[in-house]
Amino acid sequence: MAVDVILGLQWGDEGKGKIVDFLADKYDLVCRFQGGPNAGHTIKIAGKKYVLHTIPSGVFREGIINIIGNGVVLDPITMVRELTSLDEAGIDYRDRLLVSKKAHLILPTHRYLDAASEASKGEGKIGSTLKGIGPAYMDKTGRNGLRVGDILSPDFEQKYRSIRQKHMGLIRLYPEVQFDLEGEEKKFFEGLESLRSLKFVNSEYYINHALTDGRKILAEGAQGSMLDIDFGTYPFVTSSNTISAGVCSGLGIAPNRIREVIGIAKAYCTRVGSGPFPTELMDQTGEKLRAVGHEFGATTGRPRRCGWLDVPQLLYTIMLNGVTQIIITKLDVLDTFEQIRVATHYSYEGVQSSEIPFEITDIPISPVWEDISGWNTSLDGIHEYHQLPDKARAYISRLEKLLSTPISMVSTGPEREKLLPR
Ligand code: GDP
Ligand code: IMO
Ligand code: MG
Repeated sequence: MAVDVILGLQWGDEGKGKIVDFLADKYDLVCRFQGGPNAGHTIKIAGKKYVLHTIPSGVFREGIINIIGNGVVLDPITMVRELTSLDEAGIDYRDRLLVSKKAHLILPTHRYLDAASEASKGEGKIGSTLKGIGPAYMDKTGRNGLRVGDILSPDFEQKYRSIRQKHMGLIRLYPEVQFDLEGEEKKFFEGLESLRSLKFVNSEYYINHALTDGRKILAEGAQGSMLDIDFGTYPFVTSSNTISAGVCSGLGIAPNRIREVIGIAKAYCTRVGSGPFPTELMDQTGEKLRAVGHEFGATTGRPRRCGWLDVPQLLYTIMLNGVTQIIITKLDVLDTFEQIRVATHYSYEGVQSSEIPFEITDIPISPVWEDISGWNTSLDGIHEYHQLPDKARAYISRLEKLLSTPISMVSTGPEREKLLPR
């Protein structure tokens, strides 16, 4: 069987968690392929809200196996907190949650380094979630990292001491930041003990055997394509490949196994942290989008920057990912806007273009707008796509045309059932 992928087409927080949870029961396995606890995937079921950081969003569907892939960086401290909240909610995940032995560990000193590195950047800071993501991936590519499978090795503690020493040397090069290393190390080693109760697997074999046996797999992305380490708005990006190519390296899946690439985009656009955002609105409309859309980070609580939908940006990420269908989320947030705008082109250095320039972080970019009439009515209580107001359907049709990609569903609320197939 094949693998379908769900990933974010903007700067993260597109509503991936909700969509993965909704679609998960059509699959046998849900697998996270990159990122770590910088992600915050929100799922609302029966009035209760859950936020997942490392655990795949298929965990609420009975009988579905959830795998944390080799491409993920895992912090035992956050992981245990997540497990505890699932235990408290009465979710039985024990036999259905598997962790790749090749997933890398985030150590307390990675978070310490993240904080110190950001402090050293001053005005130029990335706006990192400070979860240790960058330093953990640096150790992975620098061939210094510790992996989940290493926890079982008798000399784990010795390996830990050696890398800790290296990190302490680096930390001295940075400005001083507050960090309770002793306290965090205590939590880290306690976390490792709890982690041992989960099943560690050679996930590349597990997943490929499942494929051969005809099982259906959903790969769950974190962050968004504009935060991709290679193709995002570098250096204001995360440290992993968030695009569909990351599925191959982050799970051990061959490219010819990938079938549908389902891109998730909000009906408008948000970004949290620093970096270019061509359609950002610094006015009351931006504030209204933030207030109505409750645009505050699921991981850090920071206010998200808001703006209108950006067609050149979406065309870029549709191209990079090979998107076969799009799901538009948060359509309901636009309910009270008389007029909606989308950027169809960019204008920079005296030319109009629909391409993202290399210099995006350095030159001013003005969006070329198209105005679309709003529907000005609540989408609450609508259960079928055809019941949507004409103007809401016209907005979706216009986007589909501008993006030359089918829009298969629209989401009209945070709850699991508020999703309308077309
Ligand atoms: P993710 O990181 O892509 O999973 O997205 P987040 O969970 O960080 O942010 C999406 C937010 O929007 C969450 O608070 C969701 O509950 C909420 N959400 C998802 N879909 C919809 C929708 O269609 N309408 C509204 N109003 N909220 C939504
Ligand atoms: P989900 O999966 C939105 C942003 C951070 C920062 C940059 C680098 O919930 O969509 P990092 O912690 O990786 O060093 O931060 O990336 N960022 C996210 N923004 N959603 C996310 O994940 C994000 N994960 C990281 O705000 O600008
Ligand atoms: Mg999020």
